[in-house]
Amino acid sequence: MTSLRKLTAEALAGLCLAQIVLGGAPKQCAGATELSCHNTTTIADTCCFNYPGGSLLQTQFWDTDPVVGPDDSWTIHGLWPDHCDGTYDSTCDSRRAYKNITSILKSFGNDDLLSYMETYWLPNDSTGEEFWEHEWGKHGTCVSTLEPDCFTDYQPTEEVPSYFNTTVSLFKSLPTYEWLADAGITPSSSKTYKLADIQAALSKNHNGETVYVGCSSGAINQVYYYYNVYGSVATGQFVPASPDNSDDGNCPSTGVKYLPKN
Ligand SMILES: *[C@@H]1O[C@H](CO)[C@@H](O)[C@H](O)[C@H]1NC(C)=O
Ligand SMILES: *[C@@H]1O[C@H](CO)[C@@H](O)[C@H](O)[C@H]1NC(C)=O
Ligand SMILES: *[C@@H]1O[C@H](CO)[C@@H](O)[C@H](O)[C@H]1NC(C)=O
Ligand SMILES: *[C@@H]1O[C@H](CO)[C@@H](O)[C@H](O)[C@H]1NC(C)=O
Repeated sequence: MTSLRKLTAEALAGLCLAQIVLGGAPKQCAGATELSCHNTTTIADTCCFNYPGGSLLQTQFWDTDPVVGPDDSWTIHGLWPDHCDGTYDSTCDSRRAYKNITSILKSFGNDDLLSYMETYWLPNDSTGEEFWEHEWGKHGTCVSTLEPDCFTDYQPTEEVPSYFNTTVSLFKSLPTYEWLADAGITPSSSKTYKLADIQAALSKNHNGETVYVGCSSGAINQVYYYYNVYGSVATGQFVPASPDNSDDGNCPSTGVKYLPKN
């Protein structure tokens, strides 16, 4: 009797353990006190400290030809872990350059995330799936804090939902279209703007930090919001930062076009 009871208790404990194993999670990194790109000593644990990609850029497109996404919203390009000086690594783990991003997100129950991506995270020249594979393989696999070792009881591909979820969450907190519109900067086929006014409207909403504005043929088509991070990309705190390099984005200082999508 006693031994049977003991066995049962052990079996139960085993079951509980099995459930935790199935639920593998990213490290919480509670109390991470080192801000990426700002450490003054060596940080050994790159699961709770983004390195060497300590600058995280949430990059956005304004695509008018062909049009991508809603008329009144910018769209997502990606989330890029750059070194703290404008250089970056790419395609850091070809074994994890998955070719089934849609299936992976569905397999983890991220259907809402996927449907958001189908509106706000599309390319101008291929399918969403191909674009997501490209962004994940080129940039996502270089995020040190999303490496398999950084998950407790790693379940293969579980870093993928973390990458896409964090990127979408950041994007939702960065409504470029509204911020520009609030400053009277709206798409127009005839009106033009001063680059300084565009930059001021965005910087004001990025804790006073500079936001990279990119132009093609004198029309704005990209913005990059720079961040440094306490902790991991999955669960950490993103702190607004300014660009860490001198790429000027090719915009003229006056007469900047902001072309309509419709
Ligand atoms: C910051 O941390 C990285 C990773 O441990 C290390 O290589 C680098 O030297 C550190 N920077 C400074 C200034 O100590
Ligand atoms: C399509 O996107 C690429 C970047 O991925 C950009 O360089 C190009 O200008 C875009 N093309 C059009 C027609 O918008
Ligand atoms: C996606 O692809 C990877 C490797 O190619 C595979 O291990 C995984 O099982 C696939 N996931 C789904 C949900 O199809
Ligand atoms: C997605 O990211 C948000 C913001 O970081 C977080 O609150 C939420 O728990 C994440 N969801 C999943 C499914 O990881």
